[in-house]
Amino acid sequence: MAGTSTTERGAWNSKLGFILAAAGSAVGLGNIWAFPTKVATEGGAAYIVVYLISTFLIGFPVMVAELAIGRKSGKNPVGAFKALSSNKFFPFVGLWGVICGVMILSFYTVIAGWAFGFAFEEIFYYFGWVDAANWLTDTGNGPKNAIIASVFMLGTIKIITGGISDGIERATKFMMPLLIGIIVIMIGYVLTQPGASEGVREYLLPDFSKINANLIFSAMGQAFFSLSLGMGALITYGSYLNKKENIPQAAAFVTLADVGIAFLAGLLIIPAMYVAKNAGIDIFVGDELASSTDLVFQILPALFHSIGGAIGLLLGVVFFLLLSIAALTSTISLLEVPVSFVIDEYEVPRKKAAWGVGLGVLSVSIVVAFYPVLIGYFDYIFNNLGLPIGGLLTSIFVAFVWKTDSAITEMEFGFAGIRQTLFAKVWPVFIYVIAPVAILYNIISNFL
Ligand code: PHE
Repeated sequence: MAGTSTTERGAWNSKLGFILAAAGSAVGLGNIWAFPTKVATEGGAAYIVVYLISTFLIGFPVMVAELAIGRKSGKNPVGAFKALSSNKFFPFVGLWGVICGVMILSFYTVIAGWAFGFAFEEIFYYFGWVDAANWLTDTGNGPKNAIIASVFMLGTIKIITGGISDGIERATKFMMPLLIGIIVIMIGYVLTQPGASEGVREYLLPDFSKINANLIFSAMGQAFFSLSLGMGALITYGSYLNKKENIPQAAAFVTLADVGIAFLAGLLIIPAMYVAKNAGIDIFVGDELASSTDLVFQILPALFHSIGGAIGLLLGVVFFLLLSIAALTSTISLLEVPVSFVIDEYEVPRKKAAWGVGLGVLSVSIVVAFYPVLIGYFDYIFNNLGLPIGGLLTSIFVAFVWKTDSAITEMEFGFAGIRQTLFAKVWPVFIYVIAPVAILYNIISNFL
């Protein structure tokens, strides 16, 4: 507590500001780059069903737990576990979260940089500056990847140095409505194009025969990543949350926003693929749809080019701006976790912490920029495995160390009658049993 009162650490200005910032963290490359392709290739609506079950039965309860831990402790993930018990093990869970944040951020900025670069590629292409355009399309170009990833990281650092309400909240409050507006307008355009209805069918027709242990693991991992869970991002964001806010309600808004935007992104991207197919662009590798990276960074640009003219330009620029904005509101939260850790635990001023940690992560990003194959490994270790493990240990902490009852006491601030609700009876069951068993089962079955 000493020396770190809430006002010094910063706090959200408004409930809406918090929800937009947390939804901004959740909505990112996971929703727009990863989710649509997973749905289209892994069973359509069957995947969506498993995804929704994972989101609401595992993700949402864990999100409530993270927010409660964050607000009660008023600390970064390491400090939070230290503050809520004398157990010596759990601060390492927080530290694992900080590490996952750093490592996810290191490759996330490279992908975000591709997206950001493509917004310019569309412009260069339009004006016939072919060399410049081609330079930007080459996702294997190390120096180019490093330069754009650096620009992206510097933007993220700059916003974080502004603090919670004047930096993060102000930026996300502007970007999130813009993002939703862009998605809706683009869906309106794409769905009226020839070929789109085939895409809608591919996106939504369920293939229940595809449900197996792999799909369930994939959907659960996707749910954790997409909701920004398991690495303390929401512990950190929760630590800036006012006592008068209703935690389960805020978590419900954030979850619904994340799911809603993932669904909309699928409704944009998969039909767009089939519009491209209709225009003679090859969207398959063998008889499988191309990978998400190819879909977003080869096929979509090809589609925008084939549409051509001002409309093609506008669609291309706006789409890649959309992707960049979604990524930026997520990189902010990814960086805020290690930054808040350094601020709280080592009493470093925010500006120094943001630049120090940000440039440190950037040095890892630059390695990834030169060796993009690392993305797959980092993604597997720190995202697919790292986040569910973090979520599992967080549930165990709340269930057996801090106790769900203490968490509910924390939730009574902002939700006075909570003890009389069904939520207060059901949520502990999810934290004691359902979330940990489901996560553990999934992790083990993935290894077998
Ligand atoms: N949720 C973000 C996305 O969907 C990624 C992220 C994961 C952000 C973990 C913060 C923490 O892209």
